[in-house]
Amino acid sequence: MPGMTQYQTVTADETVLRDGTIKLHGPEAFEGMRRAGRLAAEILDALVPFVQPGVTTGAIDDFVRQMTLDGGAIPATLGYRGYAHSCCTSINNVICHGIPGDKVLRDGDIVNIDVTPLLDGWHGDSSRMYLVGDVPLKARRLVEVTYECLMLGIEQAKPGKRLGDIGAVIQRHAEAHRYGVVREFCGHGLGRLFHDAPEVVHAARAGTGPELVPGMFFTIEPMINLGKPGVKMLDDGWTAVTRDRSLSAQFEHSIGITEDGCEIFTLSPTGLHKPPY
Ligand code: MF3
Ligand code: CO
Ligand code: CO
Repeated sequence: MPGMTQYQTVTADETVLRDGTIKLHGPEAFEGMRRAGRLAAEILDALVPFVQPGVTTGAIDDFVRQMTLDGGAIPATLGYRGYAHSCCTSINNVICHGIPGDKVLRDGDIVNIDVTPLLDGWHGDSSRMYLVGDVPLKARRLVEVTYECLMLGIEQAKPGKRLGDIGAVIQRHAEAHRYGVVREFCGHGLGRLFHDAPEVVHAARAGTGPELVPGMFFTIEPMINLGKPGVKMLDDGWTAVTRDRSLSAQFEHSIGITEDGCEIFTLSPTGLHKPPY
């Protein structure tokens, strides 16, 4: 029922609540998101030479925390619902929310690193896949198609479209390659809040869901499995893995809807956002 969607125009400095409304932002908020998003992209860029066989996910987490703090920001995940780390590191069959620790990256791994600097009250949320050493073609292809899914979704992000149009193109592209689209985790509104309305699903019917209007901020972050879409949660309460143990890939950008399309807040200043690296 698209008529039920509630939008709320907010100023850059007012306190906003997680009340189910979709927030509509002005130029000052766009500038705040641009700065937070740029820092997220710079962190992900700086990780490219760092992510090598032999490095631990804990060392990646330390790197992310230090660079976030050096940039004048705070990792939004630190202390978020009891999460005690500065990023998520999701290797191979881990879909998302992999917890950094002693685990060592090995030649042939694929790993998603997801960062969320909170800069001057604005959240820049972005993730990319990194190829560790020599990665088999099947895995590289999954990474590439997942990136294409994200960018096809972003092409749909403009006034006059609906949220379901984004999920529809992502699902079509992934399933054309016989990959599975994860349903349990979604993109989300963000801005002053880390996770806000709307829910951005990555498998949907075209023409459904809330209408996209200028000033909306949200992430698109498709998780695509080489096998079936099913998810299993590990006992740590965070780590989501593929039920069939197949590989999984994810890319995430934070965007803002403009008058004639969208602005990608988390684009790499050096063009490193696109695989292969
Ligand atoms: N960055 C993730 C997202 O894209 C959220 C991670 S929450 C954490 O929404 F607590 F698991 F870190
Ligand atoms: Co996100
Ligand atoms: Co994220």
